[in-house]
Amino acid sequence: MLERVESLMREYVKELSNDEIYKLFEALPHGKRLRAKLVLKIAGESDDAVRLAAIIEMIHAASLLHDDVIDDAMVRRGVASLNATEGSKQAVMMGDILYSKGFEELVGFERRIAKAVASAVTQLSIGEMMDVRLSKSFQPDSDAYMQMVYQKTAALIEATASSAAMLAGKEAHIYGVYGRNLGIAFQIVDDILDITQSSEQLGKPAMHDYEEGKTTLPYIYLYEVLDEDGKRRLKSLHGKKLSIDEKEWIKSQMQECGALQKAYLYARELGDEAVSLMRGAGEDSLAEIVTAMIERDF
Ligand code: FPP
Ligand code: MG
Repeated sequence: MLERVESLMREYVKELSNDEIYKLFEALPHGKRLRAKLVLKIAGESDDAVRLAAIIEMIHAASLLHDDVIDDAMVRRGVASLNATEGSKQAVMMGDILYSKGFEELVGFERRIAKAVASAVTQLSIGEMMDVRLSKSFQPDSDAYMQMVYQKTAALIEATASSAAMLAGKEAHIYGVYGRNLGIAFQIVDDILDITQSSEQLGKPAMHDYEEGKTTLPYIYLYEVLDEDGKRRLKSLHGKKLSIDEKEWIKSQMQECGALQKAYLYARELGDEAVSLMRGAGEDSLAEIVTAMIERDF
């Protein structure tokens, strides 16, 4: 069924009648297709579900193309990013094309479905802007961080789940809460893996978040418990290239004070809430997606 989503995305891009765009699209590495899987599991395997899944994956791909330009990221999913190989101008335009073609198809859906997805894209753009601002300096405010994560990552997953529920005539709100929790937990796990996993496992440089200026949840929790000297040292490492020793210091401090564990438990709590919502609705396979996502190691 996922293959139908893949081929519809290709078809949408082919409709643009431009070989260069088609080639660039074909060369993009695929992710886990989490959003497409959610749509198909929630809305069933109808033609409309395949269309909605393809549209949301195109919008998501567009957001990552823009994000790699904004983050100056040279690697995505283990291969050179489009901005690295073709330059930022091409990457931005390719993002615009995928995003606007997605919207062109989205307007064919019922108004409330189109609105749910469209307003999530506004949210993720605001979230990305907030991420850029928060990354300019060390920022230990966990509320600001959580707000940014909700907008940047969870809003689109929330809208994916609720719009799929609307399509299937299911209770949109419950699925929206499920998607929101899944999205926030997903980002927190991502933040943890950035610290605990190797570059090979991640398909992008390890411990890069802090170098990029992102004070993610484990860093915020570590800062809260460090003494004055430790706080000063952690702040002094923010936003700069880290040596092996500096990386080791951060990791060992986090392990010692349980900052990684605390972040993981928070993700788990959100995940458990999503699991019980779905078990209550008789949606066991949606519950399993949460468990697998939280327990993933890449
Ligand atoms: C990845 O964050 C980025 C996002 C989830 C959203 C990016 C959103 C935009 C650029 C807004 C523009 C939207 C469209 C549709 C054109 P990250 O940098 O923390 O994760 P990463 O490690 O995967 O790069
Ligand atoms: Mg990025």
